[in-house]
Amino acid sequence: MAASGAASANFRETDAFAGTVLIESLDEVTEILRSRQFKMEGWASPTARSAPLMQGVLISMDGEGHMARRRKLAKLLDDAAVATYRDRHLTPTLDHCIAELAAMPRAADGSIHADLVPLAQRSVYRIAAAVVGIDGLESPDTADRFIAQVQALGAGLTVDWSREDPDVVLRRAFDARDAFERELYGPSLERRRNVVSAALAAGRDPTETSHDILTLMLANRDGAWSGDDNVLLVETCAYLVAATQTTVLGFTNMVLRMELWFEQHPQDRTLMDSDPEFLRRAAFESLRMTISTPVRQRTALEDVTLASGRHIKAGQTVSLHFIPANSDPKHFGEHGEAFNPHRTVENAAPWGLAFGGGAHTCPGRPLVTGSRNPTGTTGVDGTLVTLCRRYYAAGLALDPERPPVRDASTHYAMYSSIPVRFTRI
Ligand code: HEM
Repeated sequence: MAASGAASANFRETDAFAGTVLIESLDEVTEILRSRQFKMEGWASPTARSAPLMQGVLISMDGEGHMARRRKLAKLLDDAAVATYRDRHLTPTLDHCIAELAAMPRAADGSIHADLVPLAQRSVYRIAAAVVGIDGLESPDTADRFIAQVQALGAGLTVDWSREDPDVVLRRAFDARDAFERELYGPSLERRRNVVSAALAAGRDPTETSHDILTLMLANRDGAWSGDDNVLLVETCAYLVAATQTTVLGFTNMVLRMELWFEQHPQDRTLMDSDPEFLRRAAFESLRMTISTPVRQRTALEDVTLASGRHIKAGQTVSLHFIPANSDPKHFGEHGEAFNPHRTVENAAPWGLAFGGGAHTCPGRPLVTGSRNPTGTTGVDGTLVTLCRRYYAAGLALDPERPPVRDASTHYAMYSSIPVRFTRI
Protein backbone atom coordinates (compact mmCIF):
# COMPACT_ATOMS: atom_id res chain seq x y z
CA MET A 1 0.00 0.00 0.00
CA ALA A 2 1.70 3.19 -1.12
CA ALA A 3 0.86 5.95 1.27
CA SER A 4 3.22 8.71 0.31
CA GLY A 5 1.15 11.88 0.62
CA ALA A 6 3.40 13.70 -1.76
CA ALA A 7 3.48 13.63 -5.49
CA SER A 8 6.22 11.23 -6.45
CA ALA A 9 9.25 11.91 -8.61
CA ASN A 10 7.02 12.02 -11.68
CA PHE A 11 6.18 15.65 -10.82
CA ARG A 12 9.25 16.36 -12.97
CA GLU A 13 7.12 15.40 -15.99
CA THR A 14 5.35 18.75 -15.58
CA ASP A 15 6.93 21.79 -17.26
CA ALA A 16 6.78 24.07 -14.20
CA PHE A 17 10.47 23.43 -13.41
CA ALA A 18 12.18 24.38 -16.66
CA GLY A 19 15.06 26.78 -15.97
CA THR A 20 14.73 26.64 -12.19
CA VAL A 21 17.32 25.44 -9.65
CA LEU A 22 16.14 22.49 -7.55
CA ILE A 23 16.95 22.80 -3.81
CA GLU A 24 16.50 19.72 -1.62
CA SER A 25 18.21 20.24 1.79
CA LEU A 26 16.07 21.23 4.79
CA ASP A 27 18.50 23.97 5.90
CA GLU A 28 18.69 25.60 2.46
CA VAL A 29 14.92 25.40 1.87
CA THR A 30 14.23 26.88 5.33
CA GLU A 31 16.74 29.70 4.77
CA ILE A 32 15.17 30.65 1.44
CA LEU A 33 11.61 30.55 2.81
CA ARG A 34 12.63 32.90 5.64
CA SER A 35 14.73 35.24 3.51
CA ARG A 36 13.53 38.66 2.39
CA GLN A 37 15.93 38.37 -0.57
CA PHE A 38 13.41 36.10 -2.34
CA LYS A 39 9.88 36.76 -3.52
CA MET A 40 6.95 34.38 -4.00
CA GLU A 41 6.90 32.68 -7.42
CA GLY A 42 4.63 30.17 -9.11
CA TRP A 43 1.28 31.14 -7.57
CA ALA A 44 2.18 34.81 -7.95
CA SER A 45 3.40 34.71 -11.53
CA PRO A 46 1.00 36.50 -13.91
CA THR A 47 1.91 33.90 -16.54
CA ALA A 48 0.94 30.92 -14.34
CA ARG A 49 -2.06 29.08 -15.76
CA SER A 50 -3.82 29.50 -12.40
CA ALA A 51 -3.26 33.30 -12.37
CA PRO A 52 -6.90 34.31 -13.05
CA LEU A 53 -7.94 32.43 -9.90
CA MET A 54 -5.05 33.67 -7.77
CA GLN A 55 -4.51 37.37 -8.46
CA GLY A 56 -4.90 39.40 -5.27
CA VAL A 57 -5.10 36.45 -2.86
CA LEU A 58 -2.86 36.21 0.19
CA ILE A 59 -0.56 33.51 -1.12
CA SER A 60 0.24 35.44 -4.31
CA MET A 61 1.13 38.66 -2.42
CA ASP A 62 4.36 39.94 -0.89
CA GLY A 63 5.39 42.98 1.17
CA GLU A 64 3.26 45.28 3.32
CA GLY A 65 -0.13 44.27 1.80
CA HIS A 66 0.64 40.64 2.65
CA MET A 67 1.78 41.50 6.19
CA ALA A 68 -1.34 43.61 6.84
CA ARG A 69 -3.56 40.59 6.13
CA ARG A 70 -1.34 38.23 8.13
CA ARG A 71 -1.50 40.48 11.21
CA LYS A 72 -5.31 40.37 11.15
CA LEU A 73 -5.32 36.60 10.63
CA ALA A 74 -2.88 35.99 13.49
CA LYS A 75 -5.49 37.31 15.94
CA LEU A 76 -8.28 35.28 14.34
CA LEU A 77 -6.27 32.05 14.64
CA ASP A 78 -4.69 32.47 18.07
CA ASP A 79 -4.87 29.65 20.64
CA ALA A 80 -8.07 30.94 22.25
CA ALA A 81 -9.79 31.11 18.84
CA VAL A 82 -8.56 27.59 17.97
CA ALA A 83 -10.06 26.26 21.23
CA THR A 84 -13.35 28.00 20.33
CA TYR A 85 -13.35 26.35 16.87
CA ARG A 86 -12.78 22.98 18.49
CA ASP A 87 -15.83 23.38 20.75
CA ARG A 88 -18.15 25.23 18.37
CA HIS A 89 -17.35 23.61 15.04
CA LEU A 90 -15.03 20.60 15.11
CA THR A 91 -16.82 18.54 17.76
CA PRO A 92 -20.42 19.28 16.56
CA THR A 93 -19.40 18.63 12.93
CA LEU A 94 -17.96 15.25 13.83
CA ASP A 95 -21.08 14.42 15.91
CA HIS A 96 -23.12 15.26 12.80
CA CYS A 97 -20.94 13.08 10.52
CA ILE A 98 -21.06 10.12 12.96
CA ALA A 99 -24.87 10.47 13.15
CA GLU A 100 -24.99 10.29 9.31
CA LEU A 101 -22.86 7.13 9.45
CA ALA A 102 -25.08 5.60 12.13
CA ALA A 103 -28.10 6.08 9.85
CA MET A 104 -26.50 3.94 7.09
CA PRO A 105 -27.54 0.30 6.53
CA ARG A 106 -25.60 -2.29 8.56
CA ALA A 107 -23.92 -5.51 7.39
CA ALA A 108 -25.02 -8.86 8.88
CA ASP A 109 -22.32 -8.57 11.60
CA GLY A 110 -23.66 -5.13 12.61
CA SER A 111 -20.74 -3.17 11.11
CA ILE A 112 -21.21 -0.19 8.81
CA HIS A 113 -19.34 -0.17 5.50
CA ALA A 114 -18.34 3.26 4.23
CA ASP A 115 -15.76 5.05 2.11
CA LEU A 116 -13.22 7.09 4.07
CA VAL A 117 -12.68 9.57 1.22
CA PRO A 118 -16.19 11.10 1.06
CA LEU A 119 -16.47 10.76 4.83
CA ALA A 120 -13.22 12.69 5.37
CA GLN A 121 -14.37 15.23 2.80
CA ARG A 122 -17.74 15.87 4.43
CA SER A 123 -16.08 16.18 7.85
CA VAL A 124 -13.23 18.45 6.77
CA TYR A 125 -15.15 20.61 4.27
CA ARG A 126 -17.85 21.40 6.83
CA ILE A 127 -15.19 22.39 9.39
CA ALA A 128 -13.38 24.54 6.81
CA ALA A 129 -16.64 26.20 5.77
CA ALA A 130 -17.25 27.20 9.40
CA VAL A 131 -13.75 28.66 9.72
CA VAL A 132 -14.04 30.57 6.45
CA GLY A 133 -17.66 31.67 7.05
CA ILE A 134 -19.81 29.66 4.62
CA ASP A 135 -23.16 28.49 6.03
CA GLY A 136 -25.78 25.94 5.04
CA LEU A 137 -23.88 22.64 4.71
CA GLU A 138 -25.97 20.55 7.11
CA SER A 139 -27.57 18.34 4.45
CA PRO A 140 -25.33 15.72 2.81
CA ASP A 141 -26.47 16.83 -0.67
CA THR A 142 -25.43 20.44 -0.18
CA ALA A 143 -22.19 19.35 1.49
CA ASP A 144 -21.40 17.12 -1.51
CA ARG A 145 -22.21 19.89 -4.00
CA PHE A 146 -19.94 22.26 -2.06
CA ILE A 147 -17.17 19.63 -1.99
CA ALA A 148 -17.39 19.23 -5.78
CA GLN A 149 -17.25 23.01 -6.25
CA VAL A 150 -14.20 23.46 -3.99
CA GLN A 151 -12.49 20.47 -5.60
CA ALA A 152 -12.98 21.94 -9.07
CA LEU A 153 -11.58 25.24 -7.80
CA GLY A 154 -8.64 23.41 -6.21
CA ALA A 155 -7.90 21.62 -9.49
CA GLY A 156 -7.88 25.05 -11.16
CA LEU A 157 -5.47 26.51 -8.59
CA THR A 158 -3.11 23.54 -8.96
CA VAL A 159 -3.61 23.19 -12.72
CA ASP A 160 0.17 23.11 -13.23
CA TRP A 161 0.26 19.63 -11.58
CA SER A 162 -2.74 18.30 -13.45
CA ARG A 163 -2.66 15.33 -15.79
CA GLU A 164 -5.72 16.66 -17.65
CA ASP A 165 -6.09 19.30 -20.38
CA PRO A 166 -5.42 22.60 -18.50
CA ASP A 167 -8.12 24.52 -20.41
CA VAL A 168 -10.75 21.97 -19.41
CA VAL A 169 -9.59 22.10 -15.76
CA LEU A 170 -9.76 25.91 -15.71
CA ARG A 171 -13.20 26.02 -17.40
CA ARG A 172 -14.54 23.66 -14.71
CA ALA A 173 -12.99 25.84 -12.00
CA PHE A 174 -14.71 28.99 -13.28
CA ASP A 175 -18.07 27.22 -13.62
CA ALA A 176 -17.70 25.92 -10.05
CA ARG A 177 -16.88 29.39 -8.77
CA ASP A 178 -20.01 30.82 -10.42
CA ALA A 179 -22.19 28.11 -8.85
CA PHE A 180 -20.54 28.53 -5.43
CA GLU A 181 -21.05 32.30 -5.57
CA ARG A 182 -24.73 31.91 -6.41
CA GLU A 183 -25.64 29.07 -4.05
CA LEU A 184 -23.53 29.48 -0.91
CA TYR A 185 -21.14 32.41 -0.93
CA GLY A 186 -23.71 35.11 -1.83
CA PRO A 187 -26.15 34.29 1.02
CA SER A 188 -23.29 33.81 3.54
CA LEU A 189 -21.78 37.15 2.54
CA GLU A 190 -25.11 38.95 2.83
CA ARG A 191 -25.70 37.58 6.33
CA ARG A 192 -22.25 38.69 7.49
CA ARG A 193 -22.60 42.11 5.87
CA ASN A 194 -25.64 42.71 8.07
CA VAL A 195 -23.84 41.46 11.20
CA VAL A 196 -20.78 43.61 10.49
CA SER A 197 -22.83 46.77 9.76
CA ALA A 198 -24.88 46.29 12.94
CA ALA A 199 -21.73 45.76 15.05
CA LEU A 200 -19.94 48.76 13.55
CA ALA A 201 -23.04 50.95 14.01
CA ALA A 202 -23.09 49.93 17.69
CA GLY A 203 -19.37 50.76 18.02
CA ARG A 204 -18.36 47.09 18.48
CA ASP A 205 -15.63 45.06 16.77
CA PRO A 206 -17.58 42.48 14.67
CA THR A 207 -14.79 39.89 14.98
CA GLU A 208 -15.20 39.71 18.76
CA THR A 209 -18.35 37.65 18.36
CA SER A 210 -18.10 36.24 14.80
CA HIS A 211 -14.87 34.32 14.37
CA ASP A 212 -14.67 33.60 10.66
CA ILE A 213 -12.51 34.81 7.82
CA LEU A 214 -15.34 36.32 5.76
CA THR A 215 -16.37 38.48 8.74
CA LEU A 216 -12.73 39.45 9.28
CA MET A 217 -12.40 40.52 5.64
CA LEU A 218 -15.67 42.50 5.72
CA ALA A 219 -14.60 44.24 8.92
CA ASN A 220 -11.38 45.34 7.20
CA ARG A 221 -12.66 46.52 3.83
CA ASP A 222 -10.96 49.92 4.36
CA GLY A 223 -7.64 48.30 5.16
CA ALA A 224 -6.18 44.86 4.52
CA TRP A 225 -9.00 43.75 2.16
CA SER A 226 -9.80 46.95 0.26
CA GLY A 227 -10.76 46.78 -3.43
CA ASP A 228 -13.79 45.53 -5.34
CA ASP A 229 -16.01 42.68 -4.10
CA ASN A 230 -14.12 40.20 -6.27
CA VAL A 231 -11.23 40.41 -3.78
CA LEU A 232 -13.40 38.74 -1.13
CA LEU A 233 -14.65 36.03 -3.48
CA VAL A 234 -11.23 34.98 -4.79
CA GLU A 235 -9.72 35.06 -1.30
CA THR A 236 -12.62 32.99 0.10
CA CYS A 237 -12.14 30.41 -2.66
CA ALA A 238 -8.39 30.25 -2.07
CA TYR A 239 -8.94 29.77 1.69
CA LEU A 240 -11.41 26.98 1.13
CA VAL A 241 -9.00 25.17 -1.16
CA ALA A 242 -6.05 25.74 1.21
CA ALA A 243 -7.98 24.46 4.23
CA THR A 244 -9.70 21.42 2.74
CA GLN A 245 -7.69 19.31 0.32
CA THR A 246 -4.58 19.59 2.49
CA THR A 247 -6.45 18.32 5.56
CA VAL A 248 -8.29 15.53 3.70
CA LEU A 249 -4.97 14.42 2.19
CA GLY A 250 -3.37 14.64 5.65
CA PHE A 251 -6.12 12.61 7.34
CA THR A 252 -6.54 9.86 4.72
CA ASN A 253 -2.79 9.36 4.34
CA MET A 254 -2.40 9.28 8.11
CA VAL A 255 -4.96 6.48 8.43
CA LEU A 256 -3.29 4.47 5.65
CA ARG A 257 0.14 4.89 7.23
CA MET A 258 -1.16 4.00 10.70
CA GLU A 259 -2.85 0.85 9.40
CA LEU A 260 0.35 -0.25 7.71
CA TRP A 261 2.28 0.51 10.93
CA PHE A 262 -0.20 -1.51 13.04
CA GLU A 263 0.09 -4.43 10.61
CA GLN A 264 3.84 -4.48 11.32
CA HIS A 265 3.65 -3.34 15.00
CA PRO A 266 0.35 -4.76 16.32
CA GLN A 267 1.34 -4.03 19.94
CA ASP A 268 1.17 -0.27 19.19
CA ARG A 269 -2.58 -0.26 18.46
CA THR A 270 -3.38 0.00 22.19
CA LEU A 271 -1.25 3.16 22.42
CA MET A 272 -4.09 5.05 20.72
CA ASP A 273 -6.03 4.72 23.99
CA SER A 274 -3.29 4.45 26.58
CA ASP A 275 -0.94 7.24 25.42
CA PRO A 276 -2.60 10.53 24.35
CA GLU A 277 0.67 11.65 22.77
CA PHE A 278 0.88 8.66 20.42
CA LEU A 279 -1.70 9.93 17.93
CA ARG A 280 -0.27 13.45 18.07
CA ARG A 281 3.22 12.17 17.25
CA ALA A 282 1.76 9.98 14.50
CA ALA A 283 -0.09 12.99 13.03
CA PHE A 284 3.04 15.15 12.98
CA GLU A 285 5.11 12.31 11.50
CA SER A 286 2.51 11.73 8.81
CA LEU A 287 2.31 15.47 8.05
CA ARG A 288 6.10 15.46 7.59
CA MET A 289 5.57 13.03 4.72
CA THR A 290 2.37 14.65 3.37
CA ILE A 291 3.46 17.54 1.26
CA SER A 292 0.53 19.58 -0.03
CA THR A 293 2.51 20.80 -3.04
CA PRO A 294 5.76 18.96 -3.70
CA VAL A 295 7.61 22.04 -4.86
CA ARG A 296 7.31 25.70 -3.86
CA GLN A 297 9.01 28.34 -5.94
CA ARG A 298 10.74 31.62 -5.04
CA THR A 299 12.74 34.09 -7.15
CA ALA A 300 15.90 35.83 -5.88
CA LEU A 301 15.52 39.64 -5.74
CA GLU A 302 19.31 40.11 -5.64
CA ASP A 303 22.46 37.96 -5.78
CA VAL A 304 22.35 35.69 -2.71
CA THR A 305 24.89 33.41 -1.02
CA LEU A 306 23.26 30.86 1.29
CA ALA A 307 24.90 29.71 4.56
CA SER A 308 25.80 26.49 2.69
CA GLY A 309 27.93 28.55 0.27
CA ARG A 310 25.53 28.10 -2.66
CA HIS A 311 25.28 31.20 -4.90
CA ILE A 312 21.95 32.19 -6.45
CA LYS A 313 21.87 34.98 -9.01
CA ALA A 314 19.32 37.82 -8.98
CA GLY A 315 16.26 36.84 -11.02
CA GLN A 316 16.92 33.09 -10.64
CA THR A 317 13.85 31.02 -9.68
CA VAL A 318 14.47 28.20 -7.23
CA SER A 319 12.23 25.15 -6.87
CA LEU A 320 12.16 24.09 -3.21
CA HIS A 321 11.64 20.33 -3.16
CA PHE A 322 9.98 19.60 0.18
CA ILE A 323 9.96 15.79 -0.03
CA PRO A 324 13.74 15.21 0.28
CA ALA A 325 14.04 18.25 2.59
CA ASN A 326 11.56 16.64 4.98
CA SER A 327 13.57 13.39 4.98
CA ASP A 328 16.94 15.09 5.59
CA PRO A 329 18.88 12.59 7.81
CA LYS A 330 20.62 15.47 9.62
CA HIS A 331 17.26 16.41 11.20
CA PHE A 332 15.04 13.33 10.90
CA GLY A 333 17.57 10.52 11.40
CA GLU A 334 17.75 7.30 9.43
CA HIS A 335 15.04 6.10 7.03
CA GLY A 336 13.39 9.50 6.83
CA GLU A 337 11.34 8.25 3.88
CA ALA A 338 9.49 5.82 6.19
CA PHE A 339 6.63 6.51 8.62
CA ASN A 340 7.69 6.01 12.24
CA PRO A 341 5.51 7.57 14.97
CA HIS A 342 8.37 7.05 17.47
CA ARG A 343 10.84 9.10 15.42
CA THR A 344 13.15 11.57 17.21
CA VAL A 345 13.56 14.87 15.38
CA GLU A 346 16.54 17.20 15.91
CA ASN A 347 16.35 20.99 15.45
CA ALA A 348 13.25 21.00 13.26
CA ALA A 349 9.49 20.95 13.74
CA PRO A 350 8.23 17.35 14.00
CA TRP A 351 6.17 18.01 10.83
CA GLY A 352 9.25 19.44 9.03
CA LEU A 353 8.22 21.92 6.36
CA ALA A 354 4.69 20.54 5.90
CA PHE A 355 3.34 24.04 6.60
CA GLY A 356 6.09 25.92 4.77
CA GLY A 357 8.07 28.62 6.56
CA GLY A 358 8.82 32.34 6.67
CA ALA A 359 6.32 35.03 5.68
CA HIS A 360 3.97 32.63 3.85
CA THR A 361 3.98 29.91 6.49
CA CYS A 362 0.53 28.34 6.79
CA PRO A 363 -1.78 30.47 9.00
CA GLY A 364 -4.09 27.45 9.42
CA ARG A 365 -1.39 25.33 11.09
CA PRO A 366 -2.67 25.93 14.68
CA LEU A 367 -6.04 24.50 13.63
CA VAL A 368 -4.37 21.38 12.24
CA THR A 369 -1.80 20.79 15.02
CA GLY A 370 -3.93 22.13 17.91
CA SER A 371 -2.03 25.27 18.91
CA ARG A 372 0.54 27.80 17.77
CA ASN A 373 3.28 25.98 19.66
CA PRO A 374 6.07 25.32 17.10
CA THR A 375 6.92 21.91 18.57
CA GLY A 376 3.37 20.61 19.01
CA THR A 377 4.03 19.64 22.66
CA THR A 378 1.06 21.33 24.31
CA GLY A 379 -1.17 18.32 24.95
CA VAL A 380 -4.06 19.51 22.77
CA ASP A 381 -5.53 17.87 19.68
CA GLY A 382 -5.76 19.62 16.33
CA THR A 383 -8.11 18.71 13.48
CA LEU A 384 -6.16 15.66 12.26
CA VAL A 385 -5.90 14.00 15.68
CA THR A 386 -9.50 14.85 16.56
CA LEU A 387 -10.70 13.18 13.34
CA CYS A 388 -8.54 10.11 14.00
CA ARG A 389 -9.62 9.74 17.64
CA ARG A 390 -13.32 10.02 16.80
CA TYR A 391 -13.27 7.61 13.85
CA TYR A 392 -10.97 5.07 15.55
CA ALA A 393 -13.24 5.22 18.63
CA ALA A 394 -16.09 4.32 16.24
CA GLY A 395 -14.16 1.15 15.30
CA LEU A 396 -12.57 2.34 12.05
CA ALA A 397 -10.71 -0.41 10.12
CA LEU A 398 -9.74 -0.81 6.47
CA ASP A 399 -12.00 -3.14 4.51
CA PRO A 400 -9.85 -6.26 3.93
CA GLU A 401 -11.86 -7.18 0.80
CA ARG A 402 -11.52 -3.88 -1.08
CA PRO A 403 -8.15 -2.07 -1.31
CA PRO A 404 -7.83 1.74 -1.57
CA VAL A 405 -7.99 3.20 -5.11
CA ARG A 406 -5.58 5.97 -6.16
CA ASP A 407 -6.93 9.09 -7.95
CA ALA A 408 -5.36 8.84 -11.41
CA SER A 409 -6.18 12.43 -12.43
CA THR A 410 -3.38 14.06 -10.43
CA HIS A 411 0.30 13.81 -9.51
CA TYR A 412 -0.72 14.11 -5.84
CA ALA A 413 -0.97 10.85 -3.85
CA MET A 414 -4.72 11.26 -3.46
CA TYR A 415 -7.24 8.45 -3.25
CA SER A 416 -10.60 8.33 -4.96
CA SER A 417 -11.77 5.57 -2.62
CA ILE A 418 -10.65 4.01 0.69
CA PRO A 419 -13.25 1.37 1.70
CA VAL A 420 -13.53 1.06 5.51
CA ARG A 421 -15.73 -0.53 8.18
CA PHE A 422 -16.98 0.85 11.50
CA THR A 423 -17.63 -1.71 14.20
CA ARG A 424 -18.45 0.49 17.23
CA ILE A 425 -21.25 2.84 16.11
C1 HEM B 1 -2.84 19.56 6.74
C2 HEM B 1 -3.27 20.77 6.50
C3 HEM B 1 -2.46 21.89 5.85
C4 HEM B 1 -1.24 21.85 5.23
C5 HEM B 1 -0.30 20.65 5.03
C6 HEM B 1 -0.96 23.20 4.76
C7 HEM B 1 0.21 23.59 4.10
C8 HEM B 1 0.50 24.88 3.73
C9 HEM B 1 1.77 25.32 3.18
C10 HEM B 1 2.97 24.41 2.89
C11 HEM B 1 1.69 26.65 2.96
C12 HEM B 1 2.83 27.56 2.44
C13 HEM B 1 2.74 27.86 1.00
C14 HEM B 1 3.98 28.56 0.44
O1 HEM B 1 4.86 29.00 1.17
O2 HEM B 1 4.08 28.62 -0.79
C15 HEM B 1 0.36 27.06 3.34
C16 HEM B 1 -0.12 28.32 3.20
C17 HEM B 1 -1.43 28.67 3.49
N1 HEM B 1 -2.37 27.90 4.15
FE1 HEM B 1 -2.15 26.01 4.75
N2 HEM B 1 -2.01 24.00 5.09
C18 HEM B 1 -2.96 23.24 5.76
C19 HEM B 1 -4.15 23.67 6.31
C20 HEM B 1 -4.65 24.96 6.20
C21 HEM B 1 -5.87 25.43 6.81
C22 HEM B 1 -6.79 24.62 7.72
C23 HEM B 1 -6.03 26.73 6.39
C24 HEM B 1 -7.14 27.70 6.70
C25 HEM B 1 -7.50 28.14 7.81
C26 HEM B 1 -4.89 27.07 5.55
C27 HEM B 1 -4.69 28.27 4.91
C28 HEM B 1 -3.51 28.63 4.26
C29 HEM B 1 -3.32 29.94 3.63
C30 HEM B 1 -4.34 31.05 3.52
C31 HEM B 1 -2.00 29.97 3.15
C32 HEM B 1 -1.29 31.12 2.45
C33 HEM B 1 -0.49 31.91 3.46
C34 HEM B 1 0.31 33.04 2.89
O3 HEM B 1 0.65 33.01 1.70
O4 HEM B 1 0.65 33.95 3.66
N3 HEM B 1 -4.07 25.97 5.46
N4 HEM B 1 -0.34 25.97 3.83
